[in-house]
Amino acid sequence: MKKINLDITIHEWQLEELSVEDQELIRASIDATNHAYANYSHFYVGAAVRLANGKIVIGANQENAAFPSGLCAERTAVFAAQANFPKEPILTLAIAAKNDKGLLAEPITPCGACRQVILEIEDRYRQPVRILLYGTNKIYSIDSIKDLLPLSFIDENMH
Ligand code: THU
Repeated sequence: MKKINLDITIHEWQLEELSVEDQELIRASIDATNHAYANYSHFYVGAAVRLANGKIVIGANQENAAFPSGLCAERTAVFAAQANFPKEPILTLAIAAKNDKGLLAEPITPCGACRQVILEIEDRYRQPVRILLYGTNKIYSIDSIKDLLPLSFIDENMH
């Protein structure tokens, strides 16, 4: 038997320590929480992606009375970005969330399905997507979705 330990790196920041571009992206994700349609969960998630051309595209969770028909903020942002700018790699993705009491103190992390979609972007453009997870207490940055999705499954695994 052999034990394998995986190495995952997460950086912790305060907002003012980040670059102007990253702060702008985080603010866009915070603003995007106001675009959520979360009548069922009352959990309002905002996401903002920075494309290689510098543009920011936002997303927010969209819920539905038929629950599985809704979509997370991260995927609305990623899919909107790719639908509008199909050749532009996503460099960075920021995520923020609030409930009825306000913005979350701890960083929010993407669900498993969103991690898989972000992985597809990394695979498609052959470059990592930086991820900024916002909380009012602290911000986490992660240099690749692979740190959040170890032993991941990509197209290459099928050949
Ligand atoms: N949600 C997101 O938009 N992103 C996440 O990372 C976690 C969950 C949404 C889905 C649903 O509308 C609500 O939050 C509660 O799960």
